[in-house]
Amino acid sequence: CGIVGYIGYREAYPIIIKGLQRLEYRGYDSAGIVLFDGEKTHLSKTKGKVEDLRNKAENSIRTSGKLGLGHTRWATHGVPNDVNSHPHYSNSGDLMIIHNGIIENYDAIKQALIKRGYTFESDTDTEVLVNLIEEVKNKEGVKLGKAVQIALNQVVGAYAIAVFDRTKPDEIVVAKLGSPLAIGIGENEYFIASDASPFIEYTNNAVYLEDEEMAIVRIGKEIKLRKIKDDAIAYPNILELQLNLEEIEKGGYDHFMLKEIYEQPRAILDTYRGRLLANKGIIKMAGIDQNLEKFLNANRIIIVACGTSWHAGLVAEYIFEDLARIPVEVEYASEFRYRNPVITDKDVLIAISQSGETADTLAAIKLAKEKGAFVFGVCNVVGSSIARETHAGAYTHAGPEIGVASTKAFTTQITVLTLIALKLAHEKGTLSQSKYHEFLAELEGIPAKVEKTLLSNPVVEEISHIYKDSTNCLYLGRGYNFPVALEGALKLKEISYIHAEGYPAAEMKHGPIALIDEQMPVIVIATKKGHYEKVVSNIQEIKSRKGKIIAIVTEGDQSVKELADHVIEVPETSESLSPLLTTIPLQLLSYHIAVMRGCNVDQPRNLAKSVTVE
Ligand code: G6P
Repeated sequence: CGIVGYIGYREAYPIIIKGLQRLEYRGYDSAGIVLFDGEKTHLSKTKGKVEDLRNKAENSIRTSGKLGLGHTRWATHGVPNDVNSHPHYSNSGDLMIIHNGIIENYDAIKQALIKRGYTFESDTDTEVLVNLIEEVKNKEGVKLGKAVQIALNQVVGAYAIAVFDRTKPDEIVVAKLGSPLAIGIGENEYFIASDASPFIEYTNNAVYLEDEEMAIVRIGKEIKLRKIKDDAIAYPNILELQLNLEEIEKGGYDHFMLKEIYEQPRAILDTYRGRLLANKGIIKMAGIDQNLEKFLNANRIIIVACGTSWHAGLVAEYIFEDLARIPVEVEYASEFRYRNPVITDKDVLIAISQSGETADTLAAIKLAKEKGAFVFGVCNVVGSSIARETHAGAYTHAGPEIGVASTKAFTTQITVLTLIALKLAHEKGTLSQSKYHEFLAELEGIPAKVEKTLLSNPVVEEISHIYKDSTNCLYLGRGYNFPVALEGALKLKEISYIHAEGYPAAEMKHGPIALIDEQMPVIVIATKKGHYEKVVSNIQEIKSRKGKIIAIVTEGDQSVKELADHVIEVPETSESLSPLLTTIPLQLLSYHIAVMRGCNVDQPRNLAKSVTVE
């Protein structure tokens, strides 16, 4: 979910609506807003997107007021409908709350409140929380801030909340545990949001709450922070933000996803800028340099991640083992954290996450830290929870990724992990000097090759026309391009809702081959370096079962061209770096097919960009 709040001297409504739109990547199955006009509160909420909320609010409520709270939801408790949308009122109507997260013990609290006469309109855990706060406030005779604190100490779960009391309309109380919460500090105004994007054009000064911290923002007063558990005063660390507005807007493209696909040459360059000094043969990465011994002495590297980031982890496994000869295990964070894994202080755990907020990945990090492992983060969002929770890390510097289907985050994650692998290989001497230098030069040339790969867009679009009505799709790759096949299939299913599976090409004969007929498009990554002949045999097997073959090949390839129904060319590069190129046409293919099928590319159904629930 995404939350936005404003208190100050401007009209809150436009700030909150625009802010919610920027946060829609966090969930978009329902939305709501409450405004306080100095006398009364005005509430509007609806199932659907922020745009639906805007239409509804402008036709039904007074949209003026200098204080407001807004919410865009990814449902956890209760179906997405108007009633379950936030904000929620307390029974007296005095308190209003917005909440991102889950209150695990909500049912017990709810039953106790019902016994004491409270009633509930929605099925949400959030409505329970706001009434608990109200009950504490009345029973103890305390102010809102104290009531929030006492209530939160009775709650088990995760939250980022903002609460407002209409009988005391000069302050908003916020608190955080597990879900992100940023406070933008202006002059005589405060902004509250799940990340800084809603307020970036108003202020560059922000405080990110730590877990178990709460804050009271009051007009005309400095921000006050406290620890929820023991009431200790905490001192706000005010950061100067460097986000820029252009980076989070569409810039002429029809969709964020397409913009982000096209940004990859620049994003990859930004990722290695200042780190890769190819002519000097140096890789400089502070997070690695300062912890080199940890990596060199590690028994193994464990990589944890979810979704696309997990696929980047699989590519990293190949490159770490291949070049640096360090054993690697890659695991879904959600499995790792719950299965009592063997972890020791000789392990290095790398957590990969675009958002830096994924709840399962964060929990895996905490577990590994408890067991004494050294934990390194590869995140895109600067200052995110994972970036702060890890011992050290390297940012991908891809810039904000808004499209729910991850694109530039994936290729920049691979870039960072490749830099690390090369650096370790060099330090360990597992890669010859000449090979090392060759790699550096090759990596430096990748942005230009990605640029060239993007020229295949018209060909990909034509192919998309032919296959847009398929119901199934198979993606095959071997070696470094096996994870790319998985990622290609994930992209297609996420945004076009076509069932797709990725497989190691050789495994096809152990099952998926049974699915192949003349209706079935099979996308095969068949670049020159890396098991080329073997893949060509796989293509022959598909052909003899009348499957339709779309092959990703190295420029100038002739043999595959003769066999395949369609070919998409990518420039030649080493096998280890080839995922950075072969991924591109697969992203474009899913993009075009989704557009042609009329799907919402940037906000596919049921998904969210940042999954802060377990
Ligand atoms: C969600 C997103 C995916 C993303 C995954 C992991 O499922 O829709 O695109 O790959 O979360 O997110 P992270 O931010 O940790 O990389």
